Amino acid sequence: MTALPRLHVAVLMGGWSSERPVSLTSGEGVASALEQRGHRVTRIDMGRDVALRLAEAAPDVVFNALHGTPGEDGTVQGMMDLMGLTYTHSGLATSVIAIDKELTKQALVPHGIPMPGGRVVKTAELYERDPLARPYVLKPVNEGSSVGVAIVTAEGNYGDPISPQARGPWQEFDELLAEPFIRGRELTTAVLGDRALMVTELIPKTAFYDFDAKYTDGLTEHVCPADVPEDIAQACKDIALRAHKLLGCKGTSRSDFRWDDERGVEGLFLLEVNTQPGMTPLSLVPEQARHLGMDYPDLVEAILAEALKDAAAAKAKKGAG
Ligand SMILES: Nc1ncnc2c1ncn2[C@@H]1O[C@H](COP(=O)(O)OP(=O)(O)O)[C@@H](O)[C@H]1O
Ligand SMILES: [Mg+2]
Repeated sequence: MTALPRLHVAVLMGGWSSERPVSLTSGEGVASALEQRGHRVTRIDMGRDVALRLAEAAPDVVFNALHGTPGEDGTVQGMMDLMGLTYTHSGLATSVIAIDKELTKQALVPHGIPMPGGRVVKTAELYERDPLARPYVLKPVNEGSSVGVAIVTAEGNYGDPISPQARGPWQEFDELLAEPFIRGRELTTAVLGDRALMVTELIPKTAFYDFDAKYTDGLTEHVCPADVPEDIAQACKDIALRAHKLLGCKGTSRSDFRWDDERGVEGLFLLEVNTQPGMTPLSLVPEQARHLGMDYPDLVEAILAEALKDAAAAKAKKGAG
């Protein structure tokens, strides 16, 4: 592990996305780890004055601990590009594509990355007819943390067709992504730099892997390394690394999968690539890193080192050009 010089790091967290509480926990974890390693830290809970706060802080590097929109969607990245700041994780263009589950499919499926089919539907259409054969999943195109994910079962759990009165994401969003429901198991793989880390299986104790299951200690069992056949583990790592590279992700990302274990490797589908994966104490990337001998502060510093490396490479290229 390369030792970093003492840096002034602005940790960007909070904001006003639906994942604000998660981001505050991620950000505080990152900030304390950096202080523990002797870096100077400025904590910034993002408000509308974020550009001013960053300009005042004038950090060596920004650690982006935001999740969701805004923060994971390219807006904050574009602002930091204009300000000439060096920051962790993916840049503007990658973030815009990866936050949108439909654009992600358009970018990756032509390259042979297996993702579920389906389509974007106007919410009003749902009340007339099903967009796909049941069972299917409805989810917002660009939210995270399973916010607004509904599984429409063959039994007609929300009415048949869906009733506007039934509580679900259709009340909040004008458009939703409809995907065939992939039965089976839930897997996830982190990428750090140019290496896929491990495969974790998530076994929720609630009906599916929802917001509460993700953030309440004990509600989801993490099996790391996942108890899956070697070809499945290898396929998760290959797909996660290829997706990271195809989208142009920087630093770290985490790819979520469903695996229909009755169909072997043909049953493996990438659901999404998270460009700002959780960094809370319960989070999956820190857990995978720990299994590989990298403790939490090591991981935080490794993510910073990736950002500094990319910034140095960009500067050298500019100098040469
Ligand atoms: N096509 C699908 N088939 C089965 N389960 C799904 C499908 N899409 C989403 N889910 C479930 O919803 C969860 C959240 O979906 P995901 O696409 O990862 O979005 P996000 O994590 O951004 O909310 C998944 O972890 C999975 O449990
Ligand atoms: Mg997910």
